[in-house]
Formats: sequence, C-alpha cells, structure tokens
Amino acid sequence: MTRAALSQTWQSGSYDTHARFVSDLAEGVIEWLAPAPGEHVLDLGCGDGVLTAALAARGCDVVGVDTSDELLSAARSRGLTVQWMDGEDLHFAAEFDAVFSNAALHWMTRPRAVTQGVRRALKPSGRFVAEFGGHGNVAAIVTAMLAVANARGGRSDLANPWYFPSSAIHRRLLEEEGFSVERIGLFPRPTPLPTGMEEWLKLFRRPFFDQFGGDADAALADTVELLRPSLCDGGGNWTADYVRLRVEAHR
Ligand code: BEZ
Repeated sequence: MTRAALSQTWQSGSYDTHARFVSDLAEGVIEWLAPAPGEHVLDLGCGDGVLTAALAARGCDVVGVDTSDELLSAARSRGLTVQWMDGEDLHFAAEFDAVFSNAALHWMTRPRAVTQGVRRALKPSGRFVAEFGGHGNVAAIVTAMLAVANARGGRSDLANPWYFPSSAIHRRLLEEEGFSVERIGLFPRPTPLPTGMEEWLKLFRRPFFDQFGGDADAALADTVELLRPSLCDGGGNWTADYVRLRVEAHR
C-alpha cells in the first residue's frame, strides 16, 4: 500500500480477520495472469503475501513489494522474498516477465508514476495484470462518510483518498505510458463482509474517523447507520458495494 493514503496503517492480525476475502476473491485476476512456472513476477502491493505465496506455489520466481512493515513481516514469515518499496517509486529495470497487483493500486494516488515504474520493471515483452477498485467502488460507503463529514464539520477529503478510475481513464493512462491494453473491464462485485461494516471502516478508513477525536466512535456509528438500509440485509449480513477494474496490458 502507499504512504499517500493519509497515514493509513495496517495490522496483519486485523487484516487477516477482517479482510481475508481480498485474497480469497483473487482467482479471476490470477487466471488473467496465467502464471507459468519459472516466470519472474513482481507482486506490487503484496500485503501479507497470501497471493505472492499462491504465485510461488505455481512455480513463479516471485518478489513482493509493499510499504507496510507490518504486512511485509507477515509475508516474510511465509518464507517469501519481499521488500519495502513504494509502488509510486519502483526501482526495478527490465527484470520481470510480469507485474501482478491485486487490491493495491487504488491506494496509490499517483497512478502515472506507478505505471511508469511498472513499465520500467518489465522486460520488453512483459505484461501487467492487475485488479483494483474502479469507478464507483464503495460509492455508498464514501457517500455516507461525506454526509457524516458534512454534519460534523469534518474534512471530506479524508472520506475518499483512493484512485478509482473508469476503464477509459485507466486505458488512456496505460496507452500514454507505452502499454498496449489487451483487455480491460469494470464489473460490480458485491462483497460480503464477514465481520461487518464497522470493522471494515475501522480497518480501511481509520484516518477519517480519527479526525473527530473523542467523537470518533459516534461518527463511526452514524456512518454505519446511514449505510444499514442499503448494505445490510434483514439478517444483519453486510455487503460492500465493490466495483473492480481488471486489466491486462503489455509493454
Ligand atoms: C477495495 O478493495 O476496493 C478497497 C479496499 C479498501 C478500501 C477501499 C477500497
């Protein structure tokens, strides 16, 4: 993940408990990557390394990078080769057959710098396969936080620090940076939240609520109640309004 997401921090235990679905739902993007044994692959925003390990298990020679020391140490404890590196400032040159990324690019708010670094990291015939939040991702959740910011006099920019582009915008960026886009698509993927909305908000948007100091819990409760009619069913099961952008582009 990136430092640009306004002091977002990660705890590997919380991530494992409340966001394991992130890696569990990655089958489709791995299918697009179609990793072959022996390929040298960069996992950009590898987090705690669950997917890095899945690629290694398929015979890839995989390196993971991330900016969370906490998640990197969880990845190292799986025996993976990972290192601290900012996705907006990648330092590789023509080394990888493929760059892979799942659920990480939306945290990197300088997408042109990311795209340029990925292109430099790839061998001349290399491919870039990624999935992340696209246009309209978590729109209801963001709108609820904006309503709470408005009602409580808080900062609305903290409600949506992410890069959620449309297919057209992201395709243009890739093409401007010298990629040829093989396929790209935006699709809704309503995502069950096994531990509920409050835990999702605390894990992924803590800085928004912390701005309210002693009223952080009340702001959190207000946000959850605004979302209940649209994202919680009669049985108390929460679903996040995820929209994914999946892309394969070639250098
Ligand atoms: C996502 O995977 O779409 C996402 C996760 C956390 C915050 C925002 C978006």
